[in-house]
Amino acid sequence: MPDILKIENLHVAVAGKPILKGVDLEIRRGQTHALMGPNGSGKSTLGLAIMGHPGYEATAGGITLNGDELLDMEADERARRGIFMAFQRPLSIPGVKMSDFLRHATTNVRNPDRKEGEELIPMREFRKELKAKMGRLQMDTEFARRYVNDGFSGGEMKRAEILQLAMLQPKFAILDETDSGLDADAVRLASQSIAEIGREKMGLLIITHHDKLLEHNPPDFAHVMLGGRIVETGGTELAEELHSQGYERIREKYPEADADNQQMVAKDAVTNM
Ligand SMILES: Nc1ncnc2c1ncn2[C@@H]1O[C@H](COP(=O)(O)OP(=O)(O)OP(=O)(O)O)[C@@H](O)[C@H]1O
Ligand SMILES: [Mg+2]
Repeated sequence: MPDILKIENLHVAVAGKPILKGVDLEIRRGQTHALMGPNGSGKSTLGLAIMGHPGYEATAGGITLNGDELLDMEADERARRGIFMAFQRPLSIPGVKMSDFLRHATTNVRNPDRKEGEELIPMREFRKELKAKMGRLQMDTEFARRYVNDGFSGGEMKRAEILQLAMLQPKFAILDETDSGLDADAVRLASQSIAEIGREKMGLLIITHHDKLLEHNPPDFAHVMLGGRIVETGGTELAEELHSQGYERIREKYPEADADNQQMVAKDAVTNM
């Protein structure tokens, strides 16, 4: 029986404002899902809610991993259980070196019962693995000595997220626009790297506005989000349609969700003034 991440009737509010309005999604380990949808439709919100970001409050529904309710767990517990998210806007952690961060995170995921202060993966073993994986991602090993995301270029940050993915080897990974800000060669490398890390070993949720990241990771399912719900699910052909033709057909077919989406985006425009 493969591991199953199941989202049922999930409602999420941010700062008291309802964003997700009943999301159902089931991802099995070994499957690749693409999540698409116009700006402000709730894609990142879904990812952050699965990961357990404290600002994203589930007001109804559930998220289970093999039947265990994730909503009852803190973000670090979810990570130990094998859930990973590469953020659309990764945070920098000045003062914490990439290598130390990765060594802690990798140890905690490989040894979920480890208590704070207990031994980490042996340095020699860890360095060897890190070096090999950085080499495959064409990353200079110098990066490991820098502070996490501190002064990284947009592309370097995204590469660092893929390095985390390669080291942590999670059961489920949410990649939120891991292709944004990457040049054409870097996107190709990212797409290949994700495939190489092993799609079949993970359940993948790839949030993207482009088709390049999916090139080496053809989705088994493609979902379209609009106004805080998943309005349509299909296969690769749906992803291809949206990439070539945009969301016009979807907006017309689901006017209620479209109205919600426009309202959410309009509110942003007002608050951003
Ligand atoms: N921390 C927050 N504070 C206030 N509003 C938020 C926050 N996070 C999300 N929202 C709002 O929720 C809505 C959905 O945002 P979300 O980031 O999930 O969209 P998205 O589908 O990922 O869009 P994009 O394609 O632009 O990344 C937007 O109206 C956004 O402003
Ligand atoms: Mg987003």
